[in-house]
Amino acid sequence: MKALVLAGGTGSRLRPFTHTGAKQLLPIANKPVLFYALESLAAAGIREVGVVVGEYGREIRELTGDGDAFGLRIEYLRQNRPLGLAHAVRVARDFLGDDDFLLYLGDNYLQQGVTDFVRRTVADPAAARLLLTPVADPSAFGVAEIDAEGNVLRLEEKPDSPRSALALIGVYAFSPAVHEAVRAITPSARGELELTHAVQWMIEHGLRVRADTTTRPWRDTGSVDDLLEVNHHVLDGVEGLVEGKVDAHSTLVGRVRVAEGAIVRGSRVVGPVVIGAGAVVSNSSVGPYTSIGEDCRVEDSAIEHSVLLRGAQVEGVSRIESSLIGRSAVVRPAPRLPRAHQLVIGDYSKVYLTS
Ligand code: TTP
Repeated sequence: MKALVLAGGTGSRLRPFTHTGAKQLLPIANKPVLFYALESLAAAGIREVGVVVGEYGREIRELTGDGDAFGLRIEYLRQNRPLGLAHAVRVARDFLGDDDFLLYLGDNYLQQGVTDFVRRTVADPAAARLLLTPVADPSAFGVAEIDAEGNVLRLEEKPDSPRSALALIGVYAFSPAVHEAVRAITPSARGELELTHAVQWMIEHGLRVRADTTTRPWRDTGSVDDLLEVNHHVLDGVEGLVEGKVDAHSTLVGRVRVAEGAIVRGSRVVGPVVIGAGAVVSNSSVGPYTSIGEDCRVEDSAIEHSVLLRGAQVEGVSRIESSLIGRSAVVRPAPRLPRAHQLVIGDYSKVYLTS
């Protein structure tokens, strides 16, 4: 069985980060979210992986490589425009050949991995197999109606009146029968070739579509809130390890990872927290649930439940919470006079001021 990981897309909900990079490379506990997907595919025994990439293909390829580091063989497949998940399957037609494959949305995080799902796919072959989870607000998702035996009867995309509370999670298994389905469908109202339409086509053509249901944690990291929540969740499982320098005036409470080459001075760090290589934290209070990326600088500040990307600087800021701060971004106080905010922020940025 092969795998197809989708790492293109528009990423409009994660602007401005997606103006300068791939959302699948945004870090969760200082590791790109895409790497968690690749690791779980390797753990499930999959070896051949096609990664569909869009405009940030080069960046993804440079960081991820040929797959050796994961025990995988990775081939990169270019999707010239993000025309939908089913379009990405069309793009991968030659790579997939006549093999069964797992389709994994590259910005999704599944705590349980895909090993059990792959096992059930092999044990109970079907034209398509979906993974579902109960959600409180099904109208925001693709929703499946299933019978008592786990056969999928119908799929709907973001329905106004959902027929069930079972939402589609970003992992699917397909037989080669999907190729005819993705060729047969036409673009939806939003101009995309929808995977849900392709699966619905398969159901309507009498093909066997099965579903498994899980209640284990799963998240799409497609928005800032979701990304912070996944970061929170993954940090909960991180073990403390100090490889960098922590001076005698600092206190570490709970599970704190300080990477080699990082420095913590005169600070209180309350885990779970990860601090990346080359980062300097001084005279500050950090955590809980905070990831400080490589080469960041946090000085005279307090920060919790946040993610700082590589090279970000926070200096003299009394309290930052629930924030995602971009690469080499600078956050520092303005002079006391004039009493005004001075902002240099990119398109689609969001700034929440308390005064
Ligand atoms: P989505 O998050 O559903 O779509 P998006 O990336 O366009 O984001 P937004 O809604 O914020 O604009 O995509 C799920 C995954 O599939 C994600 O990793 C991006 C990837 N993808 C592709 O590779 N090709 C595509 O054509 C689309 C739509 C998504």
